[in-house]
Formats: sequence, structure tokens, C-alpha cells
Amino acid sequence: MIRSVVRGFGAALPKQVVTNLDLESKVDTSDEWIVQRTGIRQRYIAGEGETTASLGEAAGRAALENAGLTSADLDLIIVATSTPDNTFPATAVNIQNRLGMHHGAAFDVQAVCSGFIFGVTTADAYIRGGLAKRVLVIGAETFSRILDWTDRTTCVLFGDGAGAIILEAQEGTGANSDRGVLTTQLRSDGAHKEKLYVDGGPSTTGTVGHLRMEGREVFKHAVGMITDVIEAAFTATGTTADDLDWLVPHQANRRIIDGSAKKLGIPLEKVVVTVDLHGNTSAASIPLALNTAAADGRIKRGDLVLLEAMGGGFTWGSVLLRW
Ligand code: ACO
Repeated sequence: MIRSVVRGFGAALPKQVVTNLDLESKVDTSDEWIVQRTGIRQRYIAGEGETTASLGEAAGRAALENAGLTSADLDLIIVATSTPDNTFPATAVNIQNRLGMHHGAAFDVQAVCSGFIFGVTTADAYIRGGLAKRVLVIGAETFSRILDWTDRTTCVLFGDGAGAIILEAQEGTGANSDRGVLTTQLRSDGAHKEKLYVDGGPSTTGTVGHLRMEGREVFKHAVGMITDVIEAAFTATGTTADDLDWLVPHQANRRIIDGSAKKLGIPLEKVVVTVDLHGNTSAASIPLALNTAAADGRIKRGDLVLLEAMGGGFTWGSVLLRW
């Protein structure tokens, strides 16, 4: 059977680092409050000329270089983002052009913080269906541009960045020992829209709008939804938490990450955490964390890696893969 195997990875961050201390002079907050409630110590914020497409392009180029490929070798680009450069065309098409690619196809997926999981799931379906051989999946965001910088309950939580992987069709045996994506689990429930949304859009206000969040409500649902899709991945593959080498969660909040790992019996030494460095970068957070742990040698070829996310919509999902 055909498997979608990770052939390369890359990431890109804006130049400017903004620490919690820097935020103390902008809004009524403190380093102590932010660290205690979220684990975030700093985030990267896009400056002039840095956009979702430019960060996504840089992450894509890094992944191509890591894979020893060029854009000529790709069939498809999928970009997960909620902060596109333009309402249309898709940021994926913009990145496709920046990479000098004029064949194949490119499109965006929009599932907020779960976007990378939705993107990898879509790429895996294209590859297993024989519609594409190599897919560049990018998670790229500039949430700083949709934050209300006077709202201390949200503006301290998010950051900008991009991460990418290249998935390639390779022959597998169908066993869990295969490299590549072993299972994907997606969920959404629009009944939760008001708990985390942007209060503008082309068809409603004609404006971009700002992020609004009922933090406590999101928190209340997060651990249950995350454990639901992780247990579904274990059931689908007959694996358990003991089989995992790494959990790479969406990086929203240290307390949500620790709570989910504890509930599933996954020791914290097996959890990749980058929320302290990047803040919540929405669809970029998982590929940024993957890139960090693969580049520093923690995630090695053959490791069993579980990705999970939950975000606006609500959307949530997981991907179990062998690196
Ligand atoms: N600095 C200082 N004080 C603050 C700040 C801040 N930045 N923000 C809020 N406070 C105050 C509040 O005003 C409140 O004060 P009060 O008690 O005098 O009214 C107090 O801190 C406690 O506020 P809560 O909202 O109850 O704080 P909580 O412990 O719930 O933590 C947080 C807030 C961190 C947002 C938490 O609810 C959370 O992590 N929620 C999940 C958020 C999340 O992960 N979102 C991302 C989802 S992914 C996506 O799709 C984007």
C-alpha cells in the first residue's frame, strides 16, 4: 500500500522577538501572569515586509532544501492558514509562484489551530488516492495582524511563524512498522463558533476583524477533545501511549499540553514543547515544533510521532506517523 512519508521539514520565524516583559509596556499584564497561565515567555512578531506568504515561502524553501528537492519535484502545495495575505487568491498560490512553480496545484485549508492536521490529512488522501506523489504542506500565520492589541486576555497569547513538511508517496506493507502517516482523525463542531472567532470578514463586515476568545470556555473543552482524537488514533492502529516516541501537540498553552499528556499517560519527557519560545502560532505551531525537535535530533527516522490540535470552530484532530 502507498504511505505518505515525511521527506523533508523546515521552518521560518520573523526577525523580531517580543518578550513578556516587552508586552508589560503595551498592556496591563506581567511576565509572571503569562508564564504561570500559559508557559509562554516570548513570541515572534512579523515586521514590515514579513507576511504569511513570505514566512510560508521561507519554510517551504527550507523543507525543499532539507529534502534535497526543488519545487519542480512537487505536485501540490497545501497551506494551512487563517491569516492569508489576501482574501483571495489563496496564500498557497502566492507561495507556489514565489517558489517558481507553475505546474500542479495549490490551495489553502482553513481550520484555525488544527489547520496543519487538516492539511496533512488532505495531503495524505491525495497521495494514497494516487492524485499526487509529493505534497508540500505548510502551516503559516501572522496572528499578530488580527489581534486586538488593547485586549490583554488575547494579545499576549499568540505569535507569528511558519513550518512545513514534504510528504512523499512510498510503498509500505500496511503494518504499523511502515514509515509515513498511519492514521488521521478529523473532527469539527460549528456549535462552538462564538467561543473563538474573528469578528469580521469579507461577507459580513467587509473588514478583517479581530480575534475574540472566551479563554475559559476553550480551556474547558480542549483536553477532552484532544484525548478523543488521540484515543481514536490508538484504536485505529492498535497502538497505545507506550508505543509513542514523541507527542507533538499544538502549542496553545502549557497547561493544556500537560493536562492532555497526563490524562493519556504520556510522560512529559516524550512531549515536544515550544510554546515558551513561539507562543500560539495557530496552524504553524505543530510544524514549528516538529522542525525544532527534528533539527535538534530528538525526533529520529523510525520514531512513532503523534500530532494533535484543537482550535477555532471548534476543529480538532490527530495524525499518527512514523518519521
Ligand atoms: N495579564 C494579567 N491578567 C490577565 C490577563 C493578562 N494578560 N488576561 C486576563 N487577566 C486577568 C483577568 O482579567 C482575570 O482577572 P479578574 O479575576 O480580576 O477578573 C484573571 O486574569 C483570570 O482570568 P481568566 O480568564 O479566568 O484566566 P484563566 O486562568 O482562564 O487563563 C487563559 C486565561 C490563559 C486564556 C486560559 O483560559 C486559556 O489558556 N484558555 C485556552 C486558550 C487557548 O488555548 N486558546 C487557543 C485555542 S487554539 C486556536 O484555535 C486559536
